[in-house]
Amino acid sequence: MKTLFAHRGMSSLAPENTHAAFALCAEFGLRWVECDVDILADGTLVIFHDDTLERCTDRTGFLSDLTFEDLKTIDAGGWFGPQFMGEKILTFSEFIALTQTHKLNINVEIKASSKNEKKRLHLIEGVIAGLKGCHQECEVLVSSFSHALLAEFKKQSPNTPVACLFEKIDFQSDWESSLRSCQSHCVHLSEEGLTQASVLEIKSKGYRLHVYTVNSLFRANELFLWGVDGIFTDAGQLFSPAY
Ligand code: G3P
Ligand code: MG
Repeated sequence: MKTLFAHRGMSSLAPENTHAAFALCAEFGLRWVECDVDILADGTLVIFHDDTLERCTDRTGFLSDLTFEDLKTIDAGGWFGPQFMGEKILTFSEFIALTQTHKLNINVEIKASSKNEKKRLHLIEGVIAGLKGCHQECEVLVSSFSHALLAEFKKQSPNTPVACLFEKIDFQSDWESSLRSCQSHCVHLSEEGLTQASVLEIKSKGYRLHVYTVNSLFRANELFLWGVDGIFTDAGQLFSPAY
């Protein structure tokens, strides 16, 4: 069985990383969602991809300058379509509650945007605390492009499965040492330029492989034939609920 992750929710049908985008997953029969989690100035954890606000809200400026109070006044849906006006930036605890209501499994991507070490540690602690709100049957996978941050997360939460995110794997470099340092058995890799040889190499070493972001059925089928275990897609509606 292949795993289909709704990348930032059903993000081709609703504004990414919002309540609307995640709630639609259940309607379309998707069982896994991916989200991006970051931290605000006052330590609140939120679901948001970019470092800045302009693409996905009605504001400008840096996400990291906001506090919890600001979230009430920011619209995170109108940019996608007028019917989504009123969508808010979700806190991590709101996200967890929503996914548990809809019985969704979750891939939490921890953003590595903050250069401040203390804030990064708060982010990890906040994710660990938030995940305590998951029901026992909810499957959780935590990932990050920052393998140092992911290794620290794994140290603090040894029973949570983690996946190392890479843009590309350079087979000259020692990518496996990153996986070892995080005690990870799972690779998350960009589909851009991904070849069958790379997939075979990763799979022959026994790792699980999920590929982002795949919005074409043709490419998804090709990747699955090569042995890829799962894909992230913005367009979960294209796929059969059989996934
Ligand atoms: O977690 C997979 C994918 O979301 C990683 O890239 O930039 O879309 O968060 P990005
Ligand atoms: Mg992501």
